[in-house]
Order: sequence, then structure tokens, then C-alpha cells
Amino acid sequence: MDAITKAKKAAGEKAAALVQPGMLVGLGTGSTAYWAIEKIGQMVKEGLNIQAVATSIASEKQALALGIPITSFSEIQQLDLDIDGADEISEEGQLIKGGGGSLLREKIVALASRHRVIVGDERKYVKTLGKFPLPIEVVPFGWELVFKTLQALQGHPTLRTKDDQPYITDNSNYIIDCSFGVIREPEQLHQQLKTLTGVVETGLFLNLKPTVIIAYENGDVKTI
Ligand code: A5P
Repeated sequence: MDAITKAKKAAGEKAAALVQPGMLVGLGTGSTAYWAIEKIGQMVKEGLNIQAVATSIASEKQALALGIPITSFSEIQQLDLDIDGADEISEEGQLIKGGGGSLLREKIVALASRHRVIVGDERKYVKTLGKFPLPIEVVPFGWELVFKTLQALQGHPTLRTKDDQPYITDNSNYIIDCSFGVIREPEQLHQQLKTLTGVVETGLFLNLKPTVIIAYENGDVKTI
């Protein structure tokens, strides 16, 4: 296992240790949240009694294969704890998410959770957001119009593709990745993008006050 994978594993497992019996837990998506889910699966096998909501079809499959009981929002109101990764984590705890394409469900679950834990390796931790392209989930109908507006806003948009076709999210939408440069006013940018008809959600996860767990290649793990 390379040093970055080891760091992701360390961060994910440290977050999993926060899960307590009886909790309703949000399971994130991506290669770091993966390790938290693996650890939670192990804890469930050892007798931990929890229920979980997954933020993607992939995470739900992983959880079910591990025997983690999955529930839905029809059954519950609020989650106790959400554990998820991020693409960028600013020093102020603001996030860019959606590199893995699951931003909409991730945001719904994050907002429904009492506590949020964000796990990442040291490469994710930045002074100011903006180097990682900002994912924006859009409805397929008329996406070209949103794309042109994003061009006009200097977002340098790219339609995300997979196998030369538009990438389709778990919610049957498209993703447009944008580069606005350094994002000095994330709230303003998020609001501006959300008002565009056809935009479903942005990958800016703001003011969620997460506990951040950063793991370093040298083996250190810091909780911020
Ligand atoms: C999924 O849509 C994303 O928000 C992920 O949480 C994020 O991309 C982090 O993924 P990795 O842990 O794989 O870098």
C-alpha cells in the first residue's frame, strides 16, 4: 500500500472510531470514505448496532456487502454523524466536494447530520479553495445553456464525461466541472451558481463546521 493510501486508511479509520452504538450514520463516498466504511463494517461484524444512510450507490453496495444496515430518509429524520471525504478542505473548514460525482446526495446527508467528520490526506488541506475544479450538478435538459452561462462567468466549464459520453450521476444528472481560480468569496459564488436554472447543486459545502481529520504521509493524523 502506498503512503497516500495508508494516509487515507488512517484518516478513515480514525473517523470510524467516532461511531457509537445506536447511531444513525451517514456514509460518504470516495477512496477515503471507503476506509471508514470498511472499518465500520468490521465494527458491525463485532457487534456494533447502528443504521446508516449511504451517499452513493457505490457506498451503499459496499456497506450492504459488509453487513451494515442501510435505512432511508423515509424512516428517519436526522443523522447523528456523517463521515465523508472532500476534494479540498480550507483552513476555515469550507469544502469542495463532488470529484467522485456524489455531491448532491452527500450534501443532503451532510445537512441532515448533527455532526460531520471530513477525512482527507494532507494533499486536500489548502489555505483557500479553488485549485480543484468545482463540480456543479446540472439537469441534462438544456445543460448547454448553463454551460454557456458558466463560460460567461469565467468558470472555464468542462462537461464531465465517462467513456466519451456525459457522466451520469446517481440522480441521472450531468456534472460540469468549473475553474474559477482562487475562490475568495465561496458563499457569493455558491449563491450565484444556485440561481441558474438547471443547476441542481454545487460542490461548495460551506459553513458546515465539520471536524476535519487529516492524515499525513509520514503517518501523523491530526484532528482539526
Ligand atoms: C465524491 O463525490 C466526493 O465528494 C468525494 O467525497 C471526494 O471526491 C473525495 O474523494 P477521495 O477520498 O476519493 O479523494
